[in-house]
Amino acid sequence: MKVLIATEKPFAPVAVEGIKKEVEAAGYELALLEKYTDKTQLLEAVADADAIIIRSDKITPEVFDAAKQLKIVVRAGAGYDNVDLEAATKHGVVVMNTPGQNANAVAELVFGLLVFAVRKFYNGTAGTELMGKRLGILAFGNVGRNVARIAKGFGMEVSAFDAYCPAEVIEAAGVQAAKSQEELFQQCDIVSLHIPATAETKQSINRKLVGSMKKGGIVINTARKEVINEAELIELLNERTDLKYITDIMPDADAKFKEFEGRYFSTPKKMGAQTAEANINAGIAAAKQIVSFFKDGCTKFQVNK
Ligand code: 3PG
Repeated sequence: MKVLIATEKPFAPVAVEGIKKEVEAAGYELALLEKYTDKTQLLEAVADADAIIIRSDKITPEVFDAAKQLKIVVRAGAGYDNVDLEAATKHGVVVMNTPGQNANAVAELVFGLLVFAVRKFYNGTAGTELMGKRLGILAFGNVGRNVARIAKGFGMEVSAFDAYCPAEVIEAAGVQAAKSQEELFQQCDIVSLHIPATAETKQSINRKLVGSMKKGGIVINTARKEVINEAELIELLNERTDLKYITDIMPDADAKFKEFEGRYFSTPKKMGAQTAEANINAGIAAAKQIVSFFKDGCTKFQVNK
């Protein structure tokens, strides 16, 4: 049985070591393909793999066609919009994610970026503080909940909206439940996005929503670039010179956004889950899920059921 780690953006070496231990303890072999620059390298590497551990790597129909022995793909992380689930199901391949394992890392980065933004990107002039500001969390999943926890430490007021999570659950976590996405944007000084990229959410963060924010509003995106309507956001930033857009996922129109000096920042490469801890948690969870899938038929975290 061969387990392949295929990560264009590699895990920390300590996480790879941990994965190797899990895989070898089960009697399987581990193969490693990191920092590949061409799709053909991936197609070659998957040819004899029974299982693959990936991150944001694109697993297209072509990959499934090339992976003749493949039975399971585990996305070491939360979002699985990079895997063609239809093609997986067609090929009889189980796809799983490892929900929650990298959530704290992403949530911590939200605050790293926020402090940087409200302190004027450390340009030496007076900025503002987070304490007392209202933070809106869009989607109260694993990352959103960690963001809420940390926000309280900063002394922020916290609101959240989640189309799939009842208001009582949000309130039970000591967070004010907004009635709608619209209300969240209208009421909050800062909105932090934690929605997945789905047919429903793609391009949903648009001019109308962001334009309804109070003066000085900040949108911070550590989720997916696809949820942003970039053309509309650019139009809005041109008109509302008080608004800021901070992101961990470089927009397609990065060059245009860069014109909004002092109001826009993007990390060069998605950094949210780039910690040793998150890599260890998600990577080892992925390895364990593969082992229990092969040994016990466990499909607990399957996302293409
Ligand atoms: C996730 O969906 O888990 C995060 O976006 C992290 O993605 P990454 O593994 O590509 O850093």
